[in-house]
Amino acid sequence: MKYSSWIGLLLLVFLYSCGEAKTTTEKEVTIVDGTSKYEVYQPSEMSMLMKGMYAFNEQVKGTIESGESLSFEFPEVFLNIHTAQLSETKLRNPTFETYSAKFIEAQTLLFDKNSSLSEKERFNNAINMCLACHKTECTGPIPKIKKLLIE
Ligand code: HEC
Repeated sequence: MKYSSWIGLLLLVFLYSCGEAKTTTEKEVTIVDGTSKYEVYQPSEMSMLMKGMYAFNEQVKGTIESGESLSFEFPEVFLNIHTAQLSETKLRNPTFETYSAKFIEAQTLLFDKNSSLSEKERFNNAINMCLACHKTECTGPIPKIKKLLIE
């Protein structure tokens, strides 16, 4: 297949999967072009939220390490952790809900100007809550998340 047809095919698939995002929990999309099948990874809402949370905290880490004061606010979108759709193999359960609440609490405290803990301590507390949940629910990204901790 020509390169240009590939682009067209992929575009079609992405448009299709955006429309389906609310109803499907499939993590992979199958593309069939008549002769072959291709599995294409489709991230879940939770997976996209997690990537955002990672990127945000990477920025916070950089700011704290450079000694600047935090000019961000707690991102309200993180509250979507309570509702975002998970990929099919993962299920919401009481443990997950407990860890979500604890993480949100720790991440909120990072922005508490009246706290007696240093920004570094509050930041690491929040990241340790990412890790606590990941130890029970999803161990793959742990090495990556550990890199966020400030030494
Ligand atoms: C309450 C549990 C919980 C908390 C808290 C949590 N995660 Fe996750 N994380 C998950 C689950 C479950 C997935 C898999 C999502 C899926 O596949 O639908 C995930 C996926 C990820 C991924 C992989 C995303 C991808 O698809 O590439 C990264 C990276 C990640 N989390 C980082 C973080 C970071 C950083 C934090 C804290 C700022 C955090 N997580 C807090 C449960 C959690």
